[in-house]
Amino acid sequence: MNKVLVSLLLTLGMSAVAQAAGNTAIVGDAEAGKAKTAVCGACHGADGNSPAPNFPKLAGQGERYLLKQLHDIKAGTAPTAEAGTGRKVLEMTGMLDNLSEQDLADIAAYFSHQGMSVGAADPALVERGQALFRGGKIEEGMPACTGCHSPDGAGNAAAGFPKIGGQHSTYVAKQLTDFREGNRTNDGDTMIMRAIAAKLSNKDIAAVSSYIQGLH
Ligand code: HEC
Ligand code: HEC
Repeated sequence: MNKVLVSLLLTLGMSAVAQAAGNTAIVGDAEAGKAKTAVCGACHGADGNSPAPNFPKLAGQGERYLLKQLHDIKAGTAPTAEAGTGRKVLEMTGMLDNLSEQDLADIAAYFSHQGMSVGAADPALVERGQALFRGGKIEEGMPACTGCHSPDGAGNAAAGFPKIGGQHSTYVAKQLTDFREGNRTNDGDTMIMRAIAAKLSNKDIAAVSSYIQGLH
């Protein structure tokens, strides 16, 4: 029964990927993207390695995932956005409104070509964090994170599964909490991350987020 749920989640993940792959692609130009990211550097770091733990690192993140987030954030913070659509990032209100599809593609290409720095895990949390990351909670039907985000946290760029290894633990913990509480809802109709985060306690989130920060 629980094995069935796990494979169902994975299958749903794959069909979401297949749907997204139907979109016609504008090719991003990393060189052109650099000049368009001047305003982003204040929070995310000039090369995408943000110095602040609540601002996500964008360096080395998958291009496809970045572009999806830019679309979602643009939609979620637009003046006309309805509640629950896209992804709301108040700090970025208005910043993407005047950017074209080509601009967004160039920006995604630029950050994806930078290298992400790695942090360190809290030694006291590594064991629990690693067990969750690699083993999931099979008895509760929650798959391991490795299945989509890969054992070293590099993600799957082609599938649009984000790189999370090396990401700030403060940011990761906020995302998992937001998915669990329904404050982040842009994981698609499959609700993959909301279903997973629903199985995580606050202590689980603290442990797995710390483990992820040191993962590479
Ligand atoms: C004032 C600070 C600030 C500025 C400036 C800013 N951002 Fe952000 N950005 C954030 C915060 C905060 C988040 C995460 C919000 C959350 O907790 O979900 C975020 C999230 C993102 C994400 C999602 C990352 C992920 O891993 O899902 C992308 C992509 C992004 N920003 C791109 C940009 C780009 C491109 C620019 C410049 C055009 C920019 N940001 C400017 C604060 C900022
Ligand atoms: C079935 C595939 C799948 C599994 C298993 C999975 N994830 Fe995810 N995860 C995704 C996808 C797809 C997204 C991107 C959702 C979106 O488009 O916004 C994501 C997004 C995330 C994000 C947000 C990244 C960012 O930069 O904002 C975090 C953090 C995350 N996952 C952590 C985990 C953890 C921890 C586990 C294990 C407990 C896990 N995921 C298991 C597919 C998965």
